[in-house]
Amino acid sequence: MEPLNEELVNRIDRYIQELFTPSDAALVENLKDANAAGLPAINVSPNQGKLLYLLMKIAGARRILEIGTLGGYSTTWLARALSPGGMLITLEREVKHAQVARRNLERAGLGAVVEVRVGPANESLRELIRLGAEPFDAIFIDADKAGYVEYLDLSLELSRPGTIILADNVIRHGLVLDENPPDAADRGARAYNEAIARHPRLESLVLPIVRRRVDGLAISIVR
Ligand SMILES: C[S@@+](CC[C@H](N)C(=O)[O-])C[C@H]1O[C@@H](n2cnc3c(N)ncnc32)[C@H](O)[C@@H]1O
Repeated sequence: MEPLNEELVNRIDRYIQELFTPSDAALVENLKDANAAGLPAINVSPNQGKLLYLLMKIAGARRILEIGTLGGYSTTWLARALSPGGMLITLEREVKHAQVARRNLERAGLGAVVEVRVGPANESLRELIRLGAEPFDAIFIDADKAGYVEYLDLSLELSRPGTIILADNVIRHGLVLDENPPDAADRGARAYNEAIARHPRLESLVLPIVRRRVDGLAISIVR
C-alpha cells in the first residue's frame, strides 16, 4: 500500500468524485461565473457539496439556513436537497457575492426557493430571531471563522430539537491543534470546536475532510 501523501490524497478525492459526484452544467457555470467575477475560489469541494446534499436529504430538510453564500455553489447543493415545498435562506456580507449567487441560483432553477440576504451575518441572524422565524431543520455555517461561536449561539436560537448544525473549515490543516493559534480564523475554529464539544444542547463530531490538505466539517444535532 502507498504511504499517505498529498498526491495520493488528491487521487482518492478525484476517484470518489468521478464515481459519486458527476458535475452538471449549473455547477460548472456557477464556478465559472464566480471566477469570472473575481470571487475567491473558497467554495466547498464537489465531494463536500455531495455530502451536504446527502445530509440534508437524510434530515428531510424543508427549511435550511446558510451563513456564507459566496457565489452560491454550496447553496446549490443544499437547495437541491430540499423537501418539496422547502426553502433556503443564505446570508452574505458582500453585495457583489450576493449578486453572482442570485444569478447562479436563478440559472440553476432555484431562484424561487432560495433567498439571498445581504449584510453582516450576525445582524441578519438577529433580525430572523427578532421576527420570530420558524426554526430551521439545518444550518450550514461557512462565513468568517472568527464569528463562528457567535453564529452558533444565534443559530441555536433558530433551532429545534433535531436541527442539524454544520460548520466548515474547522480543522484548518491542523492549525487548530495549536492551543493559542496566532491567526484569528484558526482561533475562531478552535473555539467553535470546543463550544460544540461541551455544549449541553448539542451532540457533535468533527469529520476530517481530505481535499488537497486536511480540513474538517463539524456536525452537530440539537438535543
Ligand atoms: C468560504 S465562503 C462561502 C463558500 C460557500 N459556502 C460555498 O461553499 O460555495 C465565505 C463567505 O462568507 C462571506 N462572509 C464573510 N464574513 C461574513 C459576515 N460577517 N457576514 C456574512 N457573510 C460573510 C464572505 O464574503 C464569503 O462570501
